[in-house]
Amino acid sequence: MTKIIIKTPEQIEGIRKSAVLAAQTLKFIAEFVTEGVHTAFLNDKIEEFIRDHGAIPAPLNYNGFPKASCISLNEVVCHGIPSPKEVLKNGDILNIDITTILNGFYGDTSRMFAIGEISEAASHLIKVAQKCLDIGIEQSFPTNFIGNIGFEIGKYARDNECSVVYEYCGHGVGIAFHEAPEISHIAEKNSGAKMKEGMVFTIEPMINLGKARTKLDKKDGWTVRTIDNKLSAQFEHTLLITGKGCEVLTDLDGYYS
Ligand code: MF3
Ligand code: CO
Ligand code: CO
Repeated sequence: MTKIIIKTPEQIEGIRKSAVLAAQTLKFIAEFVTEGVHTAFLNDKIEEFIRDHGAIPAPLNYNGFPKASCISLNEVVCHGIPSPKEVLKNGDILNIDITTILNGFYGDTSRMFAIGEISEAASHLIKVAQKCLDIGIEQSFPTNFIGNIGFEIGKYARDNECSVVYEYCGHGVGIAFHEAPEISHIAEKNSGAKMKEGMVFTIEPMINLGKARTKLDKKDGWTVRTIDNKLSAQFEHTLLITGKGCEVLTDLDGYYS
């Protein structure tokens, strides 16, 4: 395994700026997320906003990914490719995932959106996924084991009749898109490395209504769906481990402070 990079104060300043821009992009796109628009339109607005702010959308051409953002609709777990053929309709739920590169530094965040009136099951799932991220953030402080993030998330999801995707993880971030460590959203208590001041990583639990397993789209090689085509939801933040706890770098609203 590659080493976990402890970020310098200068790197943290750079990452913080990129994280804020990613969060601002997610806020900017919210007003366009409505019934009747297609996801490629949203992607193009996102790309324009990021470039207008002097940054680059990290997904574009990342291992051949063809678009500037990931938009994952309903049973899509993650890495959905925005498309003009994908038109939002009443009852849909979707995740928009934004990663920016600003002056070489990365910020990564995502959230769910609901179109019109969604089912009670969908609304339950979104609430559980949001709570899972909050629980992971609560576990993020120096000396705690990284595994306790996944341990607590797994417990909460199961207690609320949901399952946790284990095939995709959170990750160190900042100098590159995906760095060590892997942040599993399901783990043994007190497993893995200990958190240390200066670590920067994402927590991004993908929570399913049905089975935890996923399948990869054979044609596009990217879209990840639930194995049973039941709904999936995800929220993501980039956070910095501080001396006392953590700072959520992609939290614009002071929700966690
Ligand atoms: N933003 C995703 C994450 O949270 C990764 C997307 S990789 C891409 O890690 F290639 F699909 F863009
Ligand atoms: Co992301
Ligand atoms: Co991420």
